[in-house]
Order: sequence, then C-alpha cells, then structure tokens
Amino acid sequence: MVVYKSFESDILIIGAGGAGLRASLSALEHGKSINIVTKSLIGKAHTVMAEGGIAASVGDVDKEDNWTVHFADTIVEGVYIGNWRMAELLAKQAPERVYELERYGAVFDRTPEGKIMQRAFGGHTYRRLCHVGDKTGLEIIRTLEDKVLHTGAKMFDEVYITKLFLNEGRFAGALGLEMRSGEFVLFKAKALIISTGGCGRVYKVTSNSWESTGDGLALAYNAGAELMDMEMIQFHPTGMVWPQSAKGLLVTESVRGEGGILLNSKHERFMLKYSPEKKELDARDVVARSNYYEIMAGRGGPHGGVYLDISHKGRDFILKKLPGMYAQFKEFAGIDITKEAMEVAPTVHYQMGGIRVDPYTCATSVEGVFSAGEVASGLHGANRLGGNSLADILVFGKLAGEGAAKWTDGKQETDPDENEVNDEIKRVDGLLGGNGTNPYDLIDELTSVMQDHFGIVRNGNQMKEGIRMLDEIEKRSGAVMVRGGLKYNHGLLACLELQNMLVACKAIAISANMRGESRGAHTRSDFPKRSRKWKVNIVCKKDGNKLSTRNVEVEEIPAELAKYVKPEVYE
Ligand code: FUM
Repeated sequence: MVVYKSFESDILIIGAGGAGLRASLSALEHGKSINIVTKSLIGKAHTVMAEGGIAASVGDVDKEDNWTVHFADTIVEGVYIGNWRMAELLAKQAPERVYELERYGAVFDRTPEGKIMQRAFGGHTYRRLCHVGDKTGLEIIRTLEDKVLHTGAKMFDEVYITKLFLNEGRFAGALGLEMRSGEFVLFKAKALIISTGGCGRVYKVTSNSWESTGDGLALAYNAGAELMDMEMIQFHPTGMVWPQSAKGLLVTESVRGEGGILLNSKHERFMLKYSPEKKELDARDVVARSNYYEIMAGRGGPHGGVYLDISHKGRDFILKKLPGMYAQFKEFAGIDITKEAMEVAPTVHYQMGGIRVDPYTCATSVEGVFSAGEVASGLHGANRLGGNSLADILVFGKLAGEGAAKWTDGKQETDPDENEVNDEIKRVDGLLGGNGTNPYDLIDELTSVMQDHFGIVRNGNQMKEGIRMLDEIEKRSGAVMVRGGLKYNHGLLACLELQNMLVACKAIAISANMRGESRGAHTRSDFPKRSRKWKVNIVCKKDGNKLSTRNVEVEEIPAELAKYVKPEVYE
C-alpha cells in the first residue's frame, strides 16, 4: 500500500523567496489559509542574490524621478517586447511596496536628511535603487520572513514538489517528498501560486544558488501552462572568475553604480568605446557583451576576465557602501578591493522568460494556478533592469496573492485522482536501487551544452547542434537511477531536478533558435540586427511529448503611456 501524509489549505505556495512570501501576506489578508513549501530552508532564498537594491521611483535622491520614467526605462531596456501593463503596474506600485517594507521593519540606507538613499544602476535614467549596503535582497527576505512567521501561514521546508495534479483541468493538489523524513506529502488546495525562482543552474557559470533548477517552470509546463520569452537569459556583466569554487559568484552592479570602472589588460577603459554616453552604467546586456568581446579579443586577465576597479574611491567609502564585496573578495580570493581591481566576467544571473501570466492577477493558463517572481514572464521582455527583480517580486507577489485569494472565493476543493498520486510515488520510488545512468554526469553534460551552445553570443549552427545534444541527453535521462533510500538522498533529488532542467533547456534552446534577430540578451552572430518581424513573444507549450511554439505579437502601448517612451527604431 502506498502511504503518504496529507495537508490542506485554501492556497498552496511553492517557493519561499520574496514573491512567495509577499503573496502569502496578501492571501492571508484575504482570510485564506496558506501552506508554503520550499525545497530549500526558510530564509535561504535566491532573493538574497539581488544585492544592489530595489528599483522604485521614490525620488528621494533625484527629485525629477517618477513612475513614468521608470515605466519608460523598463520598456526601452526590455527592448520593446515587455508587457506594458506589467511595466505600468511595476512602476506605479514599487514605491508603495518599499514604504510597506519599512513599515514591516526593513531599514534602508538613508541620505543625510533621513530620506531613502538611492544609487545609480545600469539603464535607469535616475538614481533609483533603494538599498541596504550591498545586501538588499537579504534584508527583504529577513523582513518578509519575520512578518510571515507571525501570521499563521504554515511553512514546510526541505520538501521537494514532484508533480501537480489537476481535476477536470483545475488545480487540485501537489505531491512532495519531505527530504528530512523520506515521506511523501500530498498538499491539497483550491489554488496554487508558483514562485520557485529561475533556472540559472542549467548553465555552468552562474550566480544562481543550487535551488535554481527550473522546478516551477517544469511543474507548470507539465500541467499544461504556457512558457514565454524563454530564450531571454540574462548574463550579469560581473561575476567572479577565480578561485574555481567562487566562479560565477555575483559581483554586484553596485560596484559600478558607486563609481567602479571596467578595464582590460591594456588598462583601457573599454566602455568608453562600446557605450560612450552611459559607459559602465549601460544596460546589462550591453555591458556583458562588451566584457565578453574584450575577453574574446585576448584583452582579458590571467583568469579569463576583465578588471573592475573601484579602489580610487578610497577605503572608507568602499567599506561603507560595499562591505559584502570587500568581504567576498578578501575571503575567496585574498584580494583587497580597496587597493586592487577585481577580475570579473559575465555570469548567468536571471531568466527574463518563464510562465505566462495575466498581468493583473498573475493567473496562468491552468485554472487555479498562479505565478509570480522570476519564474513568471512578461515584465522584463528581452532584458531586465537591475533592481527590477526585487520590485517585481513584491509588486507581483502581492498581486498573485490577491488574484489567487479572490479566485478561491466560493470555490469548493477538488481532489487529486488517487491513482495518479500512487503512480507518481511509484515513479519517484522507481529511481532508487539500481545501476542506472548517473544523474550528475548528465547534469554536467547539459550545463556544458547550454554554456557552449546558448551563451552570450549565439548562432544557428551552434544552436542546432546544441538542440541535438539536448535531445540525446533527454533520451539517456530515462535511465537515471541512484542507490539509497528516500531520506536526504541528494542523488534522488538530482534525478528529479534533471527532468526539470531538461524542460527549461529545451524551451530556451528551441526559442533561441527560432528568434532570427538580435534583441536585448539574445545576440546572434548570424542575425546581428533587430527586426520588426520579431517584435513578438515566443510562447511554448507541451504538446504530447513535444514542445510546440507560437509567436504572439507584442501589444501596442496605448497613446497615453506611449508618449513617455522613446519610439523603437530599426536600422
Ligand atoms: O548586481 C546586483 O546587485 C543584482 C541586482 C539584480 O539582479 O537586480
């Protein structure tokens, strides 16, 4: 007999980062019961990796700033394929989400007059990033976690959700494996919010922590939801390059925001050539490509990076503004950034694409399933502005909580099919015991394929070969198996994550190969220009065992908002 524990709530939230926690607060305000599940530990969310600040036009430093400028920056730097409704919601609501965080207990850095200190970041017209030194994400998670822990939401950590169940097309429940006990848990709920973060771990070099394996993307996709803009992967311009153990680790954009400059091995400030006006504070896609071109031209340092130097600002300034970066380089590389430059290179940081959602409610195309945060798509288009992710998780976390709460009003619970639950338990159990293919070998191969074939500059031949290699890995993934039992079995977790990573990789690869132009983070050496024909969002959906795609025209911005935005120009 198959045995499992069972829990019920109005709303189930998968993912306990900023989006999930903010969603739970608004759903709780609507009187709903909540279960929050994370495969990681409570408080150990990827949100902490948005270090440099939250973008909100509070105008405390540059008085001219307001939501219309933030809206325009988001559309322009998303290279005109972001959803204007989401950009409007973000720009208008971000300031209130910041003030609210302060009411919850967050303490942002202050100006001498006691206002919120804001710093410059790439692609933002004004100094807009409200911050807490270089640890803003951490402060946000700490604040939300404190608040949620006192509200009565039930939290389940170290529980890995393996499958969603629908009843007549509507969400009914999700099965999880509680890693601590090795027991299966069925979470029944009327609605689900997916807020599991991104899939950066499908690349070899990434700032993302181990959790970012695209689980939410795959759960939603397998349940029938649409994914969108999956080809748009953000390479953050500055990640550590050595030592090996720290490769890819984020070097916050705040270093450049506070005056850091990029140099090549000839000591040339090369951003003067690539972006004479904005220099180091151009949008991330531009700066990341510039770093890449310098490295490819042989003007990099001994570890394959370029140099980021802020030592001219002086020790006191650096220790005050960038204490985390000082400690990071001192501890990992033995470098004193108050005296020496850092060696840095692009690192995969963020997925602009994800689950396709309704802008106002965050509803997906599956009834009863909602999504917010990095795992959802629409807002950022082809390129995300630094600091917009923290604004995104709060603004759309709140909307998702409200959307799900309202949706459950008057709804009865439906039950998952008992046979489907039993089959899923058998599937997971079936990964144990034998001499199958090692999942870590396949993850190693898959991350190499993504790094080498779907990197910062792509081309058709390379991508076609990459897709062929992914197909082959997918075939072999059917034979993965590990030894041991269900309790804290990291090999088993790797088998399950591998399946999800493959969904993310296929969606990225197929969409990237389709988009026959260069736009934002998607650069092709064989199609170097932007094309009007590709002013579309590529939408992916599961179609039997295949992934099908369709192009959806980007909706025109209405005149009353379009007047704030510099019109798109094609060469
Ligand atoms: O560079 C950073 O501090 C990252 C911020 C972000 O991704 O928003």
